[in-house]
Amino acid sequence: MKLISYKMDTILILDFGSQVTQLIARRIRSFNVHAEIAPYNVGIDRIDKPEIKGVILSGGPASVFGENAALPDKQIFELGKPILGICYGIQVLAHMLGGAVARGVKREYGATSIKRKAKSEKLFGETPKEQTVWMSHFDIVSKPPVGFSSLAASVISPFAAIADPKRNFYGVQFHLEVSHTPYGTQILKNFALKICKAKQEWTPRHLTDAIEKIWREVGSRSVVHALSGGVDSTVLAILLKKSNVKVKNIFVDNGLLRLNEAAQVMAYLKKLGLEVERIDASKQFLDSLREITDPEQKRKIIGRVFIEILMANVGKDDMLSQGTLYPDVIESTKVHGPSDKIKTHHNRAPEVLELMRTGRVIEPFKELFKDEVRAIGTELELPDEIVWRHPFPGPGLAIGILGDVTEERLDMLRQADEIFMEEIKKAKLYRKISEAFAALDTSRAVGVKGDEREYGYMILLRAITTDDFMTADWYPFSHDFLACVANRIINEVEGVTRVLYDITQKPPGTIRYI
Ligand code: XMP
Repeated sequence: MKLISYKMDTILILDFGSQVTQLIARRIRSFNVHAEIAPYNVGIDRIDKPEIKGVILSGGPASVFGENAALPDKQIFELGKPILGICYGIQVLAHMLGGAVARGVKREYGATSIKRKAKSEKLFGETPKEQTVWMSHFDIVSKPPVGFSSLAASVISPFAAIADPKRNFYGVQFHLEVSHTPYGTQILKNFALKICKAKQEWTPRHLTDAIEKIWREVGSRSVVHALSGGVDSTVLAILLKKSNVKVKNIFVDNGLLRLNEAAQVMAYLKKLGLEVERIDASKQFLDSLREITDPEQKRKIIGRVFIEILMANVGKDDMLSQGTLYPDVIESTKVHGPSDKIKTHHNRAPEVLELMRTGRVIEPFKELFKDEVRAIGTELELPDEIVWRHPFPGPGLAIGILGDVTEERLDMLRQADEIFMEEIKKAKLYRKISEAFAALDTSRAVGVKGDEREYGYMILLRAITTDDFMTADWYPFSHDFLACVANRIINEVEGVTRVLYDITQKPPGTIRYI
């Protein structure tokens, strides 16, 4: 597998902290050009390399007016490399190259129509003269720098897209990377192929290369593989098996799994010919979570207990294997300071970093996105049931309970979640939905069951569709379907008095509640 070759033509994305920066990389890779993400303030040496064919400045939450505005090293404009600024990125271009950015009079947010101007072909190619794009900004470019002209305008932004074709500098005020900009990928492709002249060398496939790579890294050592039964770790377990290295698969049952999930996972892993040791650590996890309500603290505790159990199984010469994906490892930019970090990831716990320093961690998927791993799973002929399994977060049902975790609440949530999932499968909607789950709100609502007033819990149902889990839409179930699920939950799960269906998009909502 050509997972990464530093000689491969690459588009480097400088991350200014946008929630959707990863999507830029994903879109570029979709047309087989290698893309990587680095923090906006990365040293110039990282950028000034022959394989970096162009640079993209991402969006971000900051304003160029702020005291601590996030700005890249100004030498990037002297490297002779094409540059494309997206959203905040266009403002960086205008601000640093002598143009002007003004406080907008009105926020421009959501679907917006832009009209292209003459001489915009190089960036916009064959795309329509008038097209819909996704805007999300307040500041606007009020005067482009010398050498730049406007390529497109919206009602609010006269400089919705600008270019200095001599220097190959381009900027767009809208987000090219989100699916709400229908021609966004085409425009990124024009930039990467026609302007940067990057070669289409990237592919996540070539299994034989992947297997060889595992062999080279592991040799005769033993590998401990953390196998959760999710898509990524299962596909990796199969690759490890095919590589013929010595592997011990361990499955940690944290007591926070769905109804009967541990048994089901063990059964299908066995069917795949994988030997797996199941470690029942439910008590350990539940004891450490008692009375903890803060979501981040829950994640930290679960991560810590998991790592303790994992490390107790890694012998002093063993290697550790993890199904870590690219989105888990990108060094995210904290434009707003430390509070910007949204979720803690145990794949990068201090113990794992220590093993990494001595070359004892293998993560063959760390350059890949989930759909790329799914493609490998399909190539390995794994059953659809595994390849298309919905993601399920490591902290499991603990982050589905909006409050402290108790056995009683876990039980209720498991039953409600099972009813929801059962009905989804029965209606043959599982593959149409990217992720579905129930959550339990610990604030109570009144209900009347029989003739009795009952203060019960509220169950929240969430089902979304998405390509990449960075943006998402809620799934439009029929009223009959929702009525059926709600009735079943109210009737079958004692202690629940309300069922609510969540119709919040991401953004602004996230997929999970906490
Ligand atoms: P959000 O809620 O951020 O979720 O929109 C995006 C994707 O990440 C999953 N998720 C997690 N996965 N540990 C995980 O391993 C976590 O703490 C966690 N929180 C959310 C979520 O299920 C969705 O697929």
